[in-house]
Amino acid sequence: MEERFAIFGDILYADEDMEIREFKDSYLIVNGTKVSGIQRSRPNGMVVHDYGGMLVIPGLTDLHLHAPQYQFAGLFMDEELLQWLERHTFPEEGRYADLDYAKKAYSIFTSDLLKSETTRFSIFATIHKDASLMLSQMLEEKGFSGYVGKVNMDMNSPDYLCEDTRDSIESTLSYIEGMKRFENIRPIITPRFIPSCSPGLLKELAGISKEKGLPVQSHLDENLSEIEWVKELVPESRNYSDAYRMMGLWGEEKTIMAHVVWPDDEEMNMLENRNIFVAHSPSSNSNLSSGIAPIRKMLERRINVALATDVAGGSSLSILRMATHAIEVSKLYHRLVDEKSRPLTFREAFYMASLGGGRFFGSTGSFIPGYDADVVVLDSSSIHTTLYDEISLAERLELYAYRCAGRPVAAKFIKGRKVL
Ligand code: GUN
Ligand code: FE
Repeated sequence: MEERFAIFGDILYADEDMEIREFKDSYLIVNGTKVSGIQRSRPNGMVVHDYGGMLVIPGLTDLHLHAPQYQFAGLFMDEELLQWLERHTFPEEGRYADLDYAKKAYSIFTSDLLKSETTRFSIFATIHKDASLMLSQMLEEKGFSGYVGKVNMDMNSPDYLCEDTRDSIESTLSYIEGMKRFENIRPIITPRFIPSCSPGLLKELAGISKEKGLPVQSHLDENLSEIEWVKELVPESRNYSDAYRMMGLWGEEKTIMAHVVWPDDEEMNMLENRNIFVAHSPSSNSNLSSGIAPIRKMLERRINVALATDVAGGSSLSILRMATHAIEVSKLYHRLVDEKSRPLTFREAFYMASLGGGRFFGSTGSFIPGYDADVVVLDSSSIHTTLYDEISLAERLELYAYRCAGRPVAAKFIKGRKVL
């Protein structure tokens, strides 16, 4: 018999139609690792976690972030991607060859992530296998569930952060073996991006992904100079997406492509009906002057879109903050780029933050019965406004997202287990 318990509070979640469902003063019933339903009456004979007056929402998903970059989140924001990588990002990632440094830095990262609204993620570590396994172990011990990738880089990278192609493959295989000891943190194939991986490496990684049924994550169409560079590196490709396709890395397995700020028409077609999730990172795209991704157009074409912090391109671990950033940049897009592209609404942003990304992990990111019991509790009681008692729960969440995103959450459950 699975253990059943209830979580009491002001419950809300996004459903598959992107509508927000709300249940004031209600009980979310959890059966083992899954949600079994929501009811108004107090359930008998069950432990109740009482969060009366607080917002109870599904755990949010961060579909793209770099754990080793967390230490400089909020610094070095005055450059564009390629210079930023070379001057700041690569030197910091190089430090993870040292396991003592990795332990110190990843301890800070994992404890801050625990306090954030995120329950699921897909993380880039570094090229270092041992540090990446250490990070995975820390995340597993904190109760998280998600993907961590050992990064592959075998060209156009500084010596201290560049692998020999064979070593890169061997170390990836050994990483995948090492990850078998974890229950909830799983490996994901992680070529950094086309410029830092040789065609030979990319093709072998595609083979490993296929043979082992492992998902893939990388970067796509983030920055105009990067896109030009990819054209030079793979001159036979029609565009950046086509370069991945030529290497066997175009949604053969479940795939995350981060950014997708500058897809051309053909790439938009290529993203349709594929097992590819776009990780929209509005904060990073602003900080690194990358541009504004055409998210409204993607939603209209039913392309899978989720939100991501892209720490440290993004400075915050808060996905609720990414939701408000996504809305803000969509308004600039509407005003400055394409009047016909309607701004995103809060309802749509909340969907992308929860169920939109949750779908990458299976039945996650909503309180529909049978979904994973990933729950986050937000204490909105300190918001001072005369309107507090007049507004709906969805409006209370919107208020919280704009005014309080990034504050430590009041409680967190992952797969039915209380982790905070
Ligand atoms: N493209 C390749 N590497 C990176 C990275 O670390 N961050 C971002 N934002 N883009 C990248
Ligand atoms: Fe990134």
